[in-house]
Amino acid sequence: MRRLLPEPAVDGVDPYDAYGDAPGLRLGMVMSADGSVTDADGWTGGLGGDADFRVFRTLRALAGAILVGAGTVRTGRLGPARLRRELRARRGGPPAPIVVVSRSADLDWTLPLFTEAETPTVVVTSRASRSRVPSGIQVVAAGEDDVDLPDAVRELREGLGHERLLCEGGPALATALIRASLVDELCLNIAPTLLGSPRHTRLLHDMDAEVPLDPAALYLDEGVLFLRYRLRV
Ligand SMILES: NC(=O)c1ccc[n+]([C@@H]2O[C@H](COP(=O)([O-])OP(=O)(O)OC[C@H]3O[C@@H](n4cnc5c(N)ncnc54)[C@H](OP(=O)(O)O)[C@@H]3O)[C@@H](O)[C@H]2O)c1
Repeated sequence: MRRLLPEPAVDGVDPYDAYGDAPGLRLGMVMSADGSVTDADGWTGGLGGDADFRVFRTLRALAGAILVGAGTVRTGRLGPARLRRELRARRGGPPAPIVVVSRSADLDWTLPLFTEAETPTVVVTSRASRSRVPSGIQVVAAGEDDVDLPDAVRELREGLGHERLLCEGGPALATALIRASLVDELCLNIAPTLLGSPRHTRLLHDMDAEVPLDPAALYLDEGVLFLRYRLRV
C-alpha cells in the first residue's frame, strides 16, 4: 500500500499503522468509482479485491465493536468476525463483537452470525422490540419505539466498554449515523470499476444535508484508492 497523502511515502506502508489512530466512530465502506456499494452479484466481495479485504480486516482488528445494519445481515452473507493470526496477535485478543442495529429486531437468529461467533454478536434495538431478541443474545435497548442512536452509541462505550466503534454500513445505517452527527471519520475505499446500474445501492440514502469532509490521508493499493476523511460536523 502506497501513501499519497498527507505526504507521499516511497516505501510501502502497513495498513495497521496507516489506520491505527482509530477515532470514536469510524465508517468504513467500499464502493465503485461511480458510488455503488454492491457488486454485480449484489454483495461487496467483488468490489475491491484483496487490497480492500486487507484494509477491511485491519479496520475490524482495530475496532472495539463492529456495527452493521439489519439490511446487510438479511443478505445472509455476513459471517461472524474472525481474526487472522497476525491480526489477532497485534490486536492482542479475540475479534470485536458484531453489533447488529435493527428497529424491528426481525432477524434470522439461526444465522452463524448469532450461533457461531467467537465473540458473541450484540443487537441494538428499541425497548419496544427488545422482547423479539432471543434470550442468550446480548441486547442494547436504546429509545422507546425507535432506536435512539446517540444513546445506543453511549451505551456501547460506557456500558459495554467499546470505545472505538467501526460501522461497516450498509447505506441506511451509515446515513442515520451521519445524520445524528455520530461519525468522526469516513474510510472510503474506491474500487477501480464503474457499475452504472440503477439497481445497485448507493453509498448513502436521503441525506438531505451537506456534510463537509476534510481529506486526511490517501493510499493506493492494487488500483484501489483508500481515502480517510474527517467529517466536519
Ligand atoms: N460496500 C459496502 O461497504 C457495504 C457495506 C455494507 C452493506 N453493503 C450493502 O448494502 C446493502 C444493505 O444496505 P441497506 O441500506 O439496505 O441496509 P443496512 O443499512 O445494512 O440496514 C438497514 C436496516 O438497519 C436498521 N436501521 C437503519 N437505520 C436505523 C436507525 N436509525 N435506527 C435503527 N435501526 C436502523 C433497520 O433495520 P430493521 O429493518 O430491522 O428495523 C434498517 O432496515 C446490501 O446490499 C449490502 O451488500 C455494502
